[in-house]
Amino acid sequence: MDNQGTFNYKVVRQFAVMTVVWGVVGMLVGVIIAAELLWPDLLQGIPWLSYGRLRPLHTNAVIFAFGGCALFATSYYCAQRTCQVRLFCGPLAAVTFWGWQIVIVLAAITLPLGITSGKEYAELEWPIDLLIAVVWVSYAVVFFGTLAKRKVEHIYVANWFFGGFILTVALLHIVNSAAMPASLWKSYSAYAGVQDAMVQWWYGHNAVGFFLTAGFLGMMYYFVPKQAERPIYSYRLSVVHFWALIFTYMWAGPHHLHFTALPDWTQSIGMVFSLILLAPSWGGMINGIMTLSGAWHKLREDPILKFLIVSLSFYGMSTFEGPMMSIKTVNALSHYTDWTVGHVHSGALGWVAFITFGCIYYLIPRLFGRPQMHSIRLITLHFWVATLGVVLYITAMWIAGVMQGLMWRATNADGTLTYSFVESVKSTFPFYAIRLVGGTMFLAGMLVMAYNVARTIAAGRAVEAPIPALAPASAHA
Ligand code: HEM
Ligand code: HEM
Repeated sequence: MDNQGTFNYKVVRQFAVMTVVWGVVGMLVGVIIAAELLWPDLLQGIPWLSYGRLRPLHTNAVIFAFGGCALFATSYYCAQRTCQVRLFCGPLAAVTFWGWQIVIVLAAITLPLGITSGKEYAELEWPIDLLIAVVWVSYAVVFFGTLAKRKVEHIYVANWFFGGFILTVALLHIVNSAAMPASLWKSYSAYAGVQDAMVQWWYGHNAVGFFLTAGFLGMMYYFVPKQAERPIYSYRLSVVHFWALIFTYMWAGPHHLHFTALPDWTQSIGMVFSLILLAPSWGGMINGIMTLSGAWHKLREDPILKFLIVSLSFYGMSTFEGPMMSIKTVNALSHYTDWTVGHVHSGALGWVAFITFGCIYYLIPRLFGRPQMHSIRLITLHFWVATLGVVLYITAMWIAGVMQGLMWRATNADGTLTYSFVESVKSTFPFYAIRLVGGTMFLAGMLVMAYNVARTIAAGRAVEAPIPALAPASAHA
């Protein structure tokens, strides 16, 4: 039976703890593949530890396990607190937790075995895809059910972002995963040729736009004002931000398919919408950062706020870089190079992981009845190790990427290539070493966090917070 007088913190706790666990696992696999690029013979002879199998394991683990659990935890927490009601249908919320963990475990088994549909960020085979669809629809029912029974008339803007993310990911997943099964672990896409590529990158780009961005913006709109103890800088801007962002993202996918068989005009549409996307992205970033106006001093003392605000700076950086890379002439240089990998990780480490760290540090003491985390100094240590780690990672990849692009296009006076491909690989070697150092630092920070979280939990106990008496209509708790 649901206890209607309290918030459902149990499911939030479960997802918050698993965010940390999967963060360690996913980043460890990231470090292993970074080492394999440096020393290709490292794990030779063991097929399931080969680069080609571990790479999708890394991307799935960090995006869907680490990022996914963080999104479930924060959206469930935010929806309950801002609506002033207990989560709708507790048993179904439990289904989303256990179902999502089963999906992750199945991914961790099938991907190293080489079972894959071959679609990036949608590698899992059809039986797992069906389970994902069931979990996701349950998530939508729990989330929107909670909004429907809210006691506060207004739907706080963070919930709009979470809601947009949940609906869109359902649509993306179901359309892109449509396939004809050939056996239990093999299927063929329902689409063929260039249509398949277009559907895949419509999915792929919006996985970035909604899974890795809109959902995390939901976190920003709830946790930045809470931690800063300031109202959001401009509520009006946040509403404009929401509609502009979700409208524009949908059209930008073709920038992943420049100079391919996709019709040229489609590529141009992708480029133009990517450039337009700069405006809502920066509007949102400024809205988040300016929430601190009048309270900048807090940034000096509070490492949680440091994580949150620096994440927004990285968000601004990667959403400036992305539109630039979508310009065809720039993409002609950047595509296929490590510049893309640098761009990905400035978004993934700097934005997605940093804002997640900030939110989890905010949540853990509240969920386990502690006044604060076990050690604030360890949060500060985590912040600096991780910041240095990201900077090393992304600068190494930028330099490597531009160098590769320039080497591949260099020609001699007689029209022959100046460099062979293998020469560009050799020149990249030192940068892969620097990336490995940066990635290892980032993982070390994650381990510090895991220790700090474990100590906080050990000293606390699971709490069920009472739902306060009805708040004023415009308040968000
Ligand atoms: C310790 C931290 C991490 C390390 C060392 C690491 C390392 C790597 C490596 C070596 C690759 C393969 C690059 C290539 O194919 O050349 C990769 C790809 C990728 N990683 Fe990470 N990673 C880390 C954390 C993360 C996190 C937290 C996320 C997301 C939230 C993430 C998302 C991705 C994505 C999306 C790709 C595919 C990039 C592409 O296809 O261009 N990574 N990572
Ligand atoms: C305005 C926002 C953004 C735009 C217009 C944009 C644009 C781009 C472009 C042009 C590429 C290179 C495509 C290619 O040459 O193959 C790319 C790759 C990528 N971006 Fe972004 N980006 C944006 C923000 C972000 C953010 C915030 C993240 C992460 C949180 C991100 C994650 C990725 C990933 C994972 C890829 C690699 C996809 C792949 O090839 O596997 N992007 N983006």
